[in-house]
Amino acid sequence: MYFSGFVMPRFVVTGFLFITFFTSQGLMGQSEIAPAPGQEVILVTGSTGGLGREVARRLGSQGAHVIVHGRNAQRGTELVAEIVAEGSGSARFYRADFSSLQEVRGFGDKILADYSRLDVLINNAGFGSAPNQRMVSQDGHELRFQVNYLAGFLLTKMLMPLIMDSQPSRIVNVSSAAQTAIDFDDVMIEQNFSGGRAYAQSKLAQILFTFDLAEELEGLDVIPVSLHPATYMDTEMVRRAGVQPRTTVDEGAHAVMNLVRSEDIKPGQYFRGIEVGRAHDQAHDRIARNLLKALSEELTGVR
Ligand SMILES: NC(=O)c1ccc[n+]([C@@H]2O[C@H](COP(=O)([O-])OP(=O)(O)OC[C@H]3O[C@@H](n4cnc5c(N)ncnc54)[C@H](OP(=O)(O)O)[C@@H]3O)[C@@H](O)[C@H]2O)c1
Repeated sequence: MYFSGFVMPRFVVTGFLFITFFTSQGLMGQSEIAPAPGQEVILVTGSTGGLGREVARRLGSQGAHVIVHGRNAQRGTELVAEIVAEGSGSARFYRADFSSLQEVRGFGDKILADYSRLDVLINNAGFGSAPNQRMVSQDGHELRFQVNYLAGFLLTKMLMPLIMDSQPSRIVNVSSAAQTAIDFDDVMIEQNFSGGRAYAQSKLAQILFTFDLAEELEGLDVIPVSLHPATYMDTEMVRRAGVQPRTTVDEGAHAVMNLVRSEDIKPGQYFRGIEVGRAHDQAHDRIARNLLKALSEELTGVR
């Protein structure tokens, strides 16, 4: 399943870096560094910073072709350059703002056009609880619900044919221990809003989705899992909330890498760090899961 030991000559790397830097603009940019035959391909959403960046860097150093994603093209292309310069793996940067479902669709279409395999999809992009202010996406949906959950739902559904073709494959949903029940009478939180509530319901939505995926993919060699990586890692999200970091990005990256690499993982499992955990009761409620699924399909137009 995994490729390692792919080393590019320096002059090739330099040329590719040049192309990478000068084409990674606009909605989605890409370098000419295609994955080598047999090379593992892994997409890490939200890998221009924080946890995703460190996970992408580790995967690259293990020889993977990493699809780097985020909004910040400069940080994205810098990470691609770092991965390529390290000499083991390769990478490309794609820009897409998850507050626009149109951009998510464009991103998904581009990945389907550019790649013939996707071994692991890591849905990591996220926007935290701060500022404590209700914001809406370009589609008019509550922002955390869309960026943290709905965009990943749409992207996963779009990329499913590729993921199925790449068995054994995995889907890792980076959720959180911060979980609040979704109020299906007010999913967009127009009443009693708080940034913490919006963040926590979006993180629980990811887990409901993971449980559904495990059922839908039963019998296939595609493993969907979710996790709380670590508590208050030292990242932009935590700093913006004014919270004193309690753990390191390394700790969270270790937990994500465990779900990418461990052979001892079962479909649908929810992890707290590297231990199996129990998600909020609502994740185990079939009625709630059906309601979320129907709403997500309606809002994104995918089945
Ligand atoms: N930090 C913690 O302690 C902690 C704890 C539990 C779970 N988590 C989860 O871990 C994941 C990573 O969090 P982090 O702490 O590493 O946060 P972070 O440092 O703020 O990084 C967030 C990433 O998501 C991307 N992103 C944010 N908004 C986006 C948008 N509208 N469209 C596309 N990409 C967007 C950012 O890229 P751009 O800036 O380039 O757009 C960045 O790459 C999140 O899902 C979070 O919920 C974090």
